[in-house]
Formats: sequence, C-alpha cells, structure tokens
Amino acid sequence: MTDTMRAYVIKELGGPERLELSEIPRPLPRDGWVLIRNRAFGLNRSEWFTRRGESPSVKFPRVLGIECVGEVVAAPGCNLPVGQRVAAMMGGMGRQFDGSYAEYVLAPQQNVFPLQTHLEWKLLGALPEMLQTVHGSLYTGLEIKRAKNLLVRGATSSIGFAAISLARSAGLEVTATTRSSAKSDELKAAGATHVIVDDGALAKIARTIYPDGYDRVLELVGTTTLLDSLQAARRGGIVCMTGILGGKWSLPEFHPMGDIPTGVKLTSYSGEASDITRAELQRYVSLVESGELPLKLGTSFVFEKLRDAHIMMDENRANGKIVIEFV
Ligand SMILES: NC(=O)c1ccc[n+]([C@@H]2O[C@H](COP(=O)([O-])OP(=O)(O)OC[C@H]3O[C@@H](n4cnc5c(N)ncnc54)[C@H](OP(=O)(O)O)[C@@H]3O)[C@@H](O)[C@H]2O)c1
Repeated sequence: MTDTMRAYVIKELGGPERLELSEIPRPLPRDGWVLIRNRAFGLNRSEWFTRRGESPSVKFPRVLGIECVGEVVAAPGCNLPVGQRVAAMMGGMGRQFDGSYAEYVLAPQQNVFPLQTHLEWKLLGALPEMLQTVHGSLYTGLEIKRAKNLLVRGATSSIGFAAISLARSAGLEVTATTRSSAKSDELKAAGATHVIVDDGALAKIARTIYPDGYDRVLELVGTTTLLDSLQAARRGGIVCMTGILGGKWSLPEFHPMGDIPTGVKLTSYSGEASDITRAELQRYVSLVESGELPLKLGTSFVFEKLRDAHIMMDENRANGKIVIEFV
C-alpha cells in the first residue's frame, strides 16, 4: 500500500469542475479512529451545498463526502477487525475533516457502523445516510409509531423514495408529491397509495384525500412549501422539515400565530449518525438484502466520473440516490 491516495479536493467554491482529482497523503491510523478502504459512497445535497459555498462552516481546501462504505484497514483501540465491512457517516466527515471523495477515509469510531452483509458495494453505498435521515425523520421527528398516514412532499428525491418505503413497511398509508405528473407511476410503484402533483399549493387537494388533514407530513421541499404543508396536517398532526429542495433556507415573513394552525406541531430533522443505532442500521440493511425493504436507487458512477455525478445532481436528473463506486 502506498502512502498516497487519490481524492477529489475542492479548493474554491463553484461548479463540478472545482472538484479536482489529486494525489494526496493517505490518512494515518489514529487511536479511536477507523481507517477505511472506501468501496462506494452516496452523494448528498449537503455536499452540493458545500461545493456551492452554502456551508460557511466548511473551510477549503477540503475533501468532501459525508458517508462511505468499505472495509477496515486499521482501527487502533476500536474493537473492529481488519477487513470488517463498515459504513461511516457524518460526525464532521467531509466538513470539519476530510471525507469520502477519496480512496481511504479516516472516521471516528462512533460514526462507524459494522455491517454483516453481502450486498454489492454500489447498493450498500446508497444506504447509510439515506436510512439514517429517513429513520430519524420518521421516528425522532414525526413519531410515526402513533400515526396511520403520511404525506411526503418532494417524494421523488432519494430521501422521499426511501421515506415511502420505510413508512409503508411501518404500516402507514403514504401520499407522495412531485411537480411532474410523469413521475406518478414511479411513486405508486414505490409504495405510494396517492400521488399529488405539486404546484406549490396542495393543502386543499390533500384534504380531499384526508378531510381532517394528514397525521404526518415530511417536508422535503422546505420553506417554499412549508406554510402550505402546515395547512395539510390535522389537529394533533406533526410536520417535520427535513429537506430544502426549494433552495430557500429561511422564510422572509413567519407569523407563528397564524401560520401554524392550532394544534399542529412543527419540527425539523437535521440529524446525526447517533440517531440510528448499529442494530437498527443492520436491520434495515438486512431487510434490503432480503428484498423485504425495496429501495429505489438512482444512477451509479465510477470514481473517475464523480464530476458527472455532480452535474446530474445540478440538473435534478438523478431520480434516486446517486452512488460512486470504486471498480
Ligand atoms: N436533514 C437531514 O439530515 C438531511 C439529510 C439528507 C438530505 N437532506 C435533504 O433532503 C432533501 C432531499 O435530498 P435528496 O438528496 O434525496 O434530493 P434529490 O434526490 O437530489 O432530489 C431530487 C428531486 O427534488 C425535487 N426538486 C428539485 N428542486 C425542487 C424544487 N425547487 N422544488 C420542489 N422540488 C424540487 C425534484 O422532484 P420533482 O421534479 O419530481 O418535483 C427532484 O426529482 C434535500 O433538501 C437534502 O438537503 C436532509
């Protein structure tokens, strides 16, 4: 093993061309940290925001990438054998320290999840951050154990498709939204009972399906539709803002007394790896492997084509989770 590795280093904010494939020093094993031979990793909107300069806390140069799957190379003091399959996510990866757009990743042990699985790398690579986000949104944010139906707003996103599947497997009836009627069949195939074509104001249509409003609403489009989503929830219902697909971080005018209907609860999810346990992640991965938890994935790219994958994300053409694999 050489002491260098290939990694995409970003030195300045901008377009995909700012991701420069470079030869840099391989991270050295460190007590309490796990050195991982990276095999595949999912792309995330947060990396896209960072690339575009919308993550002010991230200082360049930086190797982006908040998740990966691979094998343990060294894990001093971590009780993880060499060769163990693992997922790693968040905890500052790709933000405060170098992340997964690289052949090797050094991650703190609390952000590393050992996995027993034979799933192929590019499938496994799609799962960690997606499952953590959806699990956290549904159980921590929306407390779905007490709910019967869910509206997923922005459902053709990778998070949206996974939310449909996890909510269905938990016994909820799911309504999914898209701006494009052409995607209706795909959403139904993914498990949605109802599909609403979203023109930005759907509360009235939502109430033709559930006249009292929805038990739960997962808001992935963000502040641009949040006030309307609140109107689609029933008294006692919960709206959880997890996504910001609409691209606006704040509401210029927000009047809580009028904007949040009486009895509707508004929360958000911007979680961490600690929101899912090792056993929960393993359970989901096993369900995916056995076919009991169908997840719709997007396109995969080889590592050398990572810029093309960012272009696809720029153009909203992914239609599911984008994965980069090493071949
Ligand atoms: N809170 C967390 O911990 C966390 C973690 C991961 C991701 N997220 C967030 O979750 C959201 C989904 O991420 P993702 O990676 O799954 O997204 P994605 O797969 O890239 O989503 C693509 C879809 O978003 C929809 N979309 C794009 N621009 C839109 C707009 N202006 N208005 C409405 N819909 C729009 C399009 O659907 P249609 O064309 O079909 O309408 C498109 O198919 C993002 O905002 C991401 O930042 C949050």
